[in-house]
Amino acid sequence: MALLHILRYPDPRLRLISTPVEVVDDEIRQLLDDMLETMYAAPGIGLAAPQVDVTKRIITVDVSPKGDAPVCLINPEIISHEGKEVMEEGCLSVPGFHENVERADQIRVKALDRDGKSIELEAEGLLSVCIQHETDHLDGRMFVDYLSEIKRKRIQKKMEKQRRFSM
Ligand code: NI
Repeated sequence: MALLHILRYPDPRLRLISTPVEVVDDEIRQLLDDMLETMYAAPGIGLAAPQVDVTKRIITVDVSPKGDAPVCLINPEIISHEGKEVMEEGCLSVPGFHENVERADQIRVKALDRDGKSIELEAEGLLSVCIQHETDHLDGRMFVDYLSEIKRKRIQKKMEKQRRFSM
């Protein structure tokens, strides 16, 4: 297992479109384990592969209170959604910032699991929001994109300043 480096907004690599995984092999499973370790260590409740500079359609999520219910989704696709929910979101690539975002409340997701088996799951509330947030990353979309331009620019400026001073 290994801790991976998490890219920070506004790194342009976070805007790349990730490609589907064709074969779920040991290399992918290793990546999943490393992503989970990185996510728990951060600590965070979700991570997408492009955040660790791997442009593959893979996300890890764990919204359980104890952090003992990891969900690994490969090539996730939201096939239906219902209702609306506003939640305060943050992102491991935008540390220190939290803003309200409106998303679907209930979703149905199709994906491959870590054995390459096709699965479908239903999610609502925090799990639903988290899966939508992480799936967005696979298309180069971030939660700041849902904010007003003024708010987004302010966050970008502060993030750029942080980067200049971190050593
Ligand atoms: Ni994020």
